[in-house]
Amino acid sequence: MVMRERWIIPMLILLMISSCSLGLPSFPKMNNASRPIATKPSAQPKAVKTNFQSCDPKNLPLSEGIPSVPPTPIYNSSVPYPNNTMRSLADQLNLYIGAAGDARQYSNIEYVKLLTHEFNMVAVENAMKWHIIHPEPDIYDFSRGDALVAFAKIYDLAVYGHVLVWDYAYPTWVTETSRTRDEWIQLLCEHIKTVTSHYQGQIYAWDVVNEAFNNDGSLRNTLWMQKIGPEYVAMAFQWAREADPNAHLILNDHFAEGMNSKSEAIYSLAKGLLMDGVPIDGVGMQMHLLLWGPPTTEELLMNMKRLSDLDLDVHITEMDLRMNLSSESSKVKTDAQTDTYRRVFDSCLAVPRCKVFVTWGLTDKYSWIPDYTGYPDTPLLFDENFQPKPAYYEIMKLLQEQFQ
Ligand code: XIL
Repeated sequence: MVMRERWIIPMLILLMISSCSLGLPSFPKMNNASRPIATKPSAQPKAVKTNFQSCDPKNLPLSEGIPSVPPTPIYNSSVPYPNNTMRSLADQLNLYIGAAGDARQYSNIEYVKLLTHEFNMVAVENAMKWHIIHPEPDIYDFSRGDALVAFAKIYDLAVYGHVLVWDYAYPTWVTETSRTRDEWIQLLCEHIKTVTSHYQGQIYAWDVVNEAFNNDGSLRNTLWMQKIGPEYVAMAFQWAREADPNAHLILNDHFAEGMNSKSEAIYSLAKGLLMDGVPIDGVGMQMHLLLWGPPTTEELLMNMKRLSDLDLDVHITEMDLRMNLSSESSKVKTDAQTDTYRRVFDSCLAVPRCKVFVTWGLTDKYSWIPDYTGYPDTPLLFDENFQPKPAYYEIMKLLQEQFQ
């Protein structure tokens, strides 16, 4: 009896979330940042009249005039994927090893060869961010995302979807329009369902909620936090699952790789979501690192293991390592970078639920870091000339050791 009651209330809450409807009882407000929805509403929820249709992507005006041009294969080889690359070894280990990419590089043969020979996954660096994919209230522009997915199909790459809910990359029509809370819920629901159902079955994993936390472990005061409240997190996961039941749904963040206040809060939130029956499948560790002060192997492993003990996957989603703000010799810096890549990759191999390792970009030539910091940098596994760096060889060594 007690058991039955424990399950009924979360189920009713999920039913309420899934309706995306207006006029529902509001979600209980959360005081403790680590728990997004209350499990014990004071009153028994009443039967809910759903307004599901209003958030059914099929009823939304999708943009039609923007053709998505699938790229044509730019090289043909009877042995397209050489042996003894990261890709060939990762394939045999059921591991995804990916790089963030952009369809605009897909006519660059050097880029395409490196990406498709060395990686079995491509992550969507920008093409599915809100300002690109949903630039006007009634217009979804899937052209860049579709081109990337088509490219991935040609070369048999898995696609890592990024990002459904974030605090950046919103067009002004989103941020500068005033709406009621119910209208904000409706807007987010429509966006998530439209995008995820457009790519249904084609995305291995989605970063559903990205960078939701401050470093002290409190929830960031993002647009969605302000307009909807902390319940936005659970809602987003629920809507994504309804629109694409097979994608792995990920809570993604940075500076939460080791053991600290932020990773503690992420752990508690994920645990709370699972207890409430919210469909979360894993936690993403962005792994944007600085040369000095990366997490120790011990704390990285401890954090990965406690998450996998919750029955969650753990993904390395955006790894890169900035070097150029440090003044040491280039040998010291390269050694430190190499060692950190080795430790992170080795930790991923040691934890069975670490199934994805993605670097945020393919080569130093296309890294986002110089634009972000204003300084040149070399944060990735391949250099400006597409040549492997020492960190690449360490990763290859670790992969090869798996077969000895
Ligand atoms: C970055 C892209 O790499 C840049 O090209 C873009 O100008 C800004 O966003 N964390 C994230 C990513 O989750 O979406 C960010 O990507 C890098 C930090």
